[in-house]
Amino acid sequence: MNVQKVMVVGAGQMGSGIAQVCAQAGYNVILHDLKDEFLQRGVNVISKNLNRQVEKSRLSEDEKKEILSRIKTTTSLEDAKEVDLVIEAAVEKMDVKISIFKQLDEMTNEHTILATNTSSLPITEIAAATKRPEKVIGMHFMNPVPVMKLVEIIRGLATNNETYKVIEDITKKLNKVPVEVNDFPGFVSNRVLMPMINEAIYTVYEGVATPEAVDEVMKLGMNHPMGPLTLADFIGLDTCLYIMEILHEGFGDDKYRPCPLLRKYVKAGWLGRKTGRGFYTYE
Ligand code: CAA
Repeated sequence: MNVQKVMVVGAGQMGSGIAQVCAQAGYNVILHDLKDEFLQRGVNVISKNLNRQVEKSRLSEDEKKEILSRIKTTTSLEDAKEVDLVIEAAVEKMDVKISIFKQLDEMTNEHTILATNTSSLPITEIAAATKRPEKVIGMHFMNPVPVMKLVEIIRGLATNNETYKVIEDITKKLNKVPVEVNDFPGFVSNRVLMPMINEAIYTVYEGVATPEAVDEVMKLGMNHPMGPLTLADFIGLDTCLYIMEILHEGFGDDKYRPCPLLRKYVKAGWLGRKTGRGFYTYE
């Protein structure tokens, strides 16, 4: 199957990044969101990222224009009828994803693959909402999408080999590295990452060390590019809590119990960088 046109559903941080890397790899992209203002915001982020590449002489002004010209925007899911692949990057709510996948299943061609960028919701359950579960797959990009090399590719119970192969090939064309994973809570990335972040929060909660000290230990001692609490603020503390809840519920093991301090911060609206306050404060 030759994928030429891709729809990305959701123009937020992840969706706009995915649209950018697809357009940079030469795909025609339709970026979808519910409102024009969300689309405009997404396209502005892409333009800014490309401008930075022009400033660093990695792209010419003409190449930038060409990449941007490959991205069309829409507020109508019906435009999915034109595409070979949809990558959904909407909010992490199962009822929203199910509704989107049901509509996409009705609107798209039979051959179209439906991928989701979910970080932790079961692919198998999303696939079961469609009449083509063999063509539904997880394609989990990391944040910031234009920079991070990994795409975790998650097979749902019914995902077939052809679908897997197409997505693996596209991932390589996006200049990313695919890693195959099966469908269990948190997949691999968040099953390993989030308990580390949660444990870092426990060390602050129990007075073992300050956030700065915890981050310094992990940055200088383990060569992590960001300390776990800086990373938690970057990801969003609400997202971290949400994923810990999924792990806790999915495995039923106490080792995944979210730290009470994480719950408290989320209740306070201290969600990290996006709200200006989390473990650190931001301008
Ligand atoms: N969008 C696009 N490009 C970005 C960017 C963004 N938001 N942020 C940084 N960059 C680019 C910069 O332009 C710069 O590019 P060049 O090297 O080409 O000049 C490069 O990234 C490095 O940036 P900086 O020098 O400003 O800063 P840095 O060296 O500290 O790197 C970082 C920033 C790449 C974010 C690095 O700190 C890092 O890798 N942090 C960890 C990120 C991480 O773990 N992500 C996974 C989160 S978990 C997830 O996504 C999954 C989930 O389900 C929750």
